[in-house]
Amino acid sequence: MISRRDWIRITAGAGAALGLGACGDAAGGSGGAGGEGAASAAGAGSSAGAASAGSGTQSGEMILRTIPSSGDRIPVIGLGGRWISADASPEELADHRAVLNALAEGAEGAGRVFDTAYGYGGGGSETYAGEWAQEDGIADEIFWATKVNAAGRGGGEADPDDVRAQIERSFDRLRIDVIDLNQVHNMGDPPTQLGILQEYKDEGRIRHVGITTTSERQYDHLARVMEEYPLDFIGIDYAIDNRTAEERILPLALDRGIAVMVYLPFGRRRMWRRIGDRELPEWTSEFDASTWAQFMLKFVIAHPAVTVAVPGTGDPEHMVDNLGGGRGRLPTDAHLRRMIELVESLPEA
Ligand SMILES: NC(=O)c1ccc[n+]([C@@H]2O[C@H](COP(=O)([O-])OP(=O)(O)OC[C@H]3O[C@@H](n4cnc5c(N)ncnc54)[C@H](OP(=O)(O)O)[C@@H]3O)[C@@H](O)[C@H]2O)c1
Repeated sequence: MISRRDWIRITAGAGAALGLGACGDAAGGSGGAGGEGAASAAGAGSSAGAASAGSGTQSGEMILRTIPSSGDRIPVIGLGGRWISADASPEELADHRAVLNALAEGAEGAGRVFDTAYGYGGGGSETYAGEWAQEDGIADEIFWATKVNAAGRGGGEADPDDVRAQIERSFDRLRIDVIDLNQVHNMGDPPTQLGILQEYKDEGRIRHVGITTTSERQYDHLARVMEEYPLDFIGIDYAIDNRTAEERILPLALDRGIAVMVYLPFGRRRMWRRIGDRELPEWTSEFDASTWAQFMLKFVIAHPAVTVAVPGTGDPEHMVDNLGGGRGRLPTDAHLRRMIELVESLPEA
């Protein structure tokens, strides 16, 4: 019987045979966090480039975006590793491993973003991903993004020794010498933790530093930190039905040259409950979305501040679907307005 992993490999191989796997900038790609091909829901972006390029869902090259501070170009769709857990069953772990391989094989570009955290899955997210990437020979394909938070979710001060211990443990678990991105998780004690991350960056062991929140209550604090610290990245929640970040955080990121990683692009299960079994409207083919996942992902990556979106999935077929959201045309401003209207007509979750 064909395993999910084999299926993914066959699918990826077929894509390569069809010439879908070439590296390089997407025809409909953007030129950076403020990509010229992107349109904004707020109407700030030009839609002309977005609409002009790309040749269809799941075909065409992956859109790449530039990290402003380093110039690195990364595929606009990555993977959120929140759900890889030390407690997972062997079957679930096999699926997550297939998902990581689908990311490595399906997203062209130098670094396929895998977002994890010291605290995810009791350490299982970092540990398993690091192990699988080494064993499967894909460690070099991945842009490793993790997080540190010795302050705990409740806030308070972080002990510097604990912060360094977490960071060192992340290196061990991920089995790499250089971490591409390490972010302070959930706004925990920025002075202490960003200061220590900066030391690692100065030593060349961490390439980019940042800070994350998915709580609107922390947006004011996040904005202050964005203004006061030299950040390479922020991580923030943003989805078609959760657009508060457009008001202040995303414009500030553009203004300060800070890359943006989008979390919760589906609102976890929220948008799936709202969509139910509705058919995707035909007009979404005008921007090469053939599934609801691609519809939602194209909405968030159309914002000119967004560098990468990292949907979470434990299903390799969903990973392939999600990567399709990073190919082809992006919605124009008119499409974005119509997309919002459609979503606002759906029942609340
Ligand atoms: N403060 C922070 O730093 C923070 C907070 C929250 C999240 N994050 C990061 O953001 C990532 C994304 O968040 P999330 O995973 O919680 O939520 P999400 O990406 O909004 O949604 C994940 C849900 O969508 C489903 N899904 C994914 N792709 C699908 C597809 N193509 N078709 C149908 N269903 C699909 C998944 O189920 P299946 O498994 O069945 O595909 C899962 O139930 C996390 O993994 C984590 O890396 C960071």
